[in-house]
Amino acid sequence: MTLAAVLLAVSCGQNKPQKALVLYYSQTGTTKAVADAIQTALGADAEEIVALTPYDGDFGATIARCQEEMAQGILPEVEPLKADLSQYDVIFLGYPIWFGTYAPPVKAFLNTIDLNGKKVVPFCTFGSGGLDSSVKHLAEKFPKAEILPGYGVRTARADSIPAEVDHFLKESGFVAGEYFKAEPFGEAHAVSEEEAAIFDTAVGDYPMISAKAVEVAVRTVENGTEYFFTAENTGGVPGSIIKVYVLAEEGKDPVFTQVLR
Ligand SMILES: Cc1cc2nc3c(=O)[nH]c(=O)nc-3n(C[C@H](O)[C@H](O)[C@H](O)COP(=O)(O)O)c2cc1C
Repeated sequence: MTLAAVLLAVSCGQNKPQKALVLYYSQTGTTKAVADAIQTALGADAEEIVALTPYDGDFGATIARCQEEMAQGILPEVEPLKADLSQYDVIFLGYPIWFGTYAPPVKAFLNTIDLNGKKVVPFCTFGSGGLDSSVKHLAEKFPKAEILPGYGVRTARADSIPAEVDHFLKESGFVAGEYFKAEPFGEAHAVSEEEAAIFDTAVGDYPMISAKAVEVAVRTVENGTEYFFTAENTGGVPGSIIKVYVLAEEGKDPVFTQVLR
């Protein structure tokens, strides 16, 4: 048993160690970076989800292919799972967000396996956000799976993956060790001028967000301050509401970490 597996068993308060499998799809490597970090930290097994006809075009070509497949109501064919699922207690399932949820190769793959009765830890990467709808879809697909809190990160923040995965695995009890426990967000209040400027800087150059911050809740995190903004869309459907997490770390410009639509 690896040290990580021992710690996993101890941290979960069980005699029997929990064996973890990391299953993931990644087109351009960001989700793979998260999968690799989890695999290394846990000493877990890992398997990549593979589309028989790879999505190897650029962003525009991939969007076009997906739209065509969606219009025809077809999913891509994927390679069958090689691992024996019955050997694993915890499945870390990773995917890029495409069209608001897990990418079609993952959707197709989930039709070939049964995660009911398993502990599932979802993780994902995305341009703007986020984990929530994909987790809802996962729970609908496998009502008897125990879906544990997951992890998501923007592609643009890939540099944060090692530190955030370490924090996430400790916080969720998969790895022993000290970590910074953030307090919950305080009460939301109307944004000050300074907070509005933080929001504008964080979302400023992102083409898919055009919104004005109205309310914010704030909390202290490890290296700075985290904001949870409520903002009104000024583009898209004007007046509709989005929620945006922003991280302002000491010595760095504020960045948004996830958008809830
Ligand atoms: C076809 C396609 C659709 C996408 N749709 C979304 C989306 O709805 N929301 C989002 O935040 N990012 C979206 N993205 C961005 C990807 O989620 C993001 O680049 C991800 O980190 C890629 O992961 P990978 O490097 O593991 O392939 C999309 C990307 C592609 C190619």
